[in-house]
Amino acid sequence: MERTLVLIKPDAIERKLMGEIISIYENKDLNISEIKLLKPSVEMAEKHYYEHKDKPFFQELIAYITRGKVCAMIIEGEAVVELVRKINGATDPKKADPNTIRGKFTLSKEENCVHGSDSKESAEREIKIWFS
Ligand code: RTP
Ligand code: MG
Repeated sequence: MERTLVLIKPDAIERKLMGEIISIYENKDLNISEIKLLKPSVEMAEKHYYEHKDKPFFQELIAYITRGKVCAMIIEGEAVVELVRKINGATDPKKADPNTIRGKFTLSKEENCVHGSDSKESAEREIKIWFS
């Protein structure tokens, strides 16, 4: 069964959107096989987002993702990587469909409530970081 890593990021936890966001995945009938709340270390965050290490926004991204608790989930299902990316919506809220999590809840492309792995390979790499 395909699986993906989803993070509900600190801005969404602060805004008490966690339950509503979890419901969106559950209402789609996807299976959450693991779930936990944790405050990630800088080391974990840097590993997770290592592909962006040379981008100008990297330090800001690490500060954001480590500033509070994150809800990490493994979600399983057929074509779940692609499905979750669709449900999450485009990174930039101006481009996100209003029926997506980002389209509904975010105004900023930096603080955008959720993460979903971008491929099956990324999912397996990221799951090792968050659930080892
Ligand atoms: P994610 O990895 O969190 O699911 O987001 P994504 O694939 O839609 O976007 P990605 O390009 O991988 O960017 C990772 C996260 O970095 C922040 N970001 N800031 N300042 C900027 O231009 C900028 N661009 C991206 C966002 O938090 C984004 O989700
Ligand atoms: Mg990404």
